[in-house]
Amino acid sequence: MKGVVLAGGLGSRLKPLTKVTNKHLLPVYDQPMIYYPIQTLINAGIDDIMIVTGGNSAGDFLKLLGNGKDFGLKHLNYTYQEGEGGIADALSLVEHFADEQPICVVLGDNIIEGNVTQAAKDFRHQGRGAKILLKQVHDPQRFGVPELDGKRVVQIEEKPNDPKSDFAVIGIYFYDASVFEVIKTLEPSERGELEITDVNNHYINRGEMTWNELDGWWTDAGTFESLLHATNLVAKTGANNAEVKSATASE
Ligand code: DAU
Repeated sequence: MKGVVLAGGLGSRLKPLTKVTNKHLLPVYDQPMIYYPIQTLINAGIDDIMIVTGGNSAGDFLKLLGNGKDFGLKHLNYTYQEGEGGIADALSLVEHFADEQPICVVLGDNIIEGNVTQAAKDFRHQGRGAKILLKQVHDPQRFGVPELDGKRVVQIEEKPNDPKSDFAVIGIYFYDASVFEVIKTLEPSERGELEITDVNNHYINRGEMTWNELDGWWTDAGTFESLLHATNLVAKTGANNAEVKSATASE
């Protein structure tokens, strides 16, 4: 399985912090934000990784990460997203890199306490389709929110006013190679983006979506509140810990 970190977009919600630099280069406690999603992939046994950058200071990713030596990697791949066309638009850029293999995609501002080793193992077993990870939250309106019928996910709504559950779809996704064909069928949403939630709903409609529930804390770091929250969580417990139970299958 190959790994993808999506670190494009303009980080508008963090202005003026992102006026001259890239959101994913900002510090979260003692490391640049992008270190965490990269480590998430490596801990899941994925070492062939593509970073999708965009916006400001894209060249600084090379300076910071080089070929990934600090992570024990031999090589890192990079590509650049023009504009802010959405998460699925950023993902479309890795089709050539994925080369028909399954992928694990991590959003560049998502940080977890534990690991997704079990979910990666489950998805390798699953063989086709997609897998999402869910986490119970107190503010589901900020996220993609699943409607659940027992163990089955019926649909996902992006930032609903009236959420159908108190789970968030976190920014770690597993897809088979058909994801790029799915993205080609998408239309931009009201916010002008190709939405990852629309990709996930495609897989749900095809009956090819599974989910695991994540153990340990999870947070994004794309707003002032969540960036502070992430910093405090990392300072307190550390992130990407091997001993925290992984994402456990709920199907
Ligand atoms: O954090 C999980 C949530 O992430 C999910 O629950 C939502 O379903 C999903 O849409 C997403 O919501 P956000 O609105 O919080 O995503 P945001 O625009 O903050 O983008 C998250 C990351 O995705 C960002 O740090 C980099 C990457 N990205 C985003 C955009 C819009 C790109 O690489 N390119 C883009 O054009």
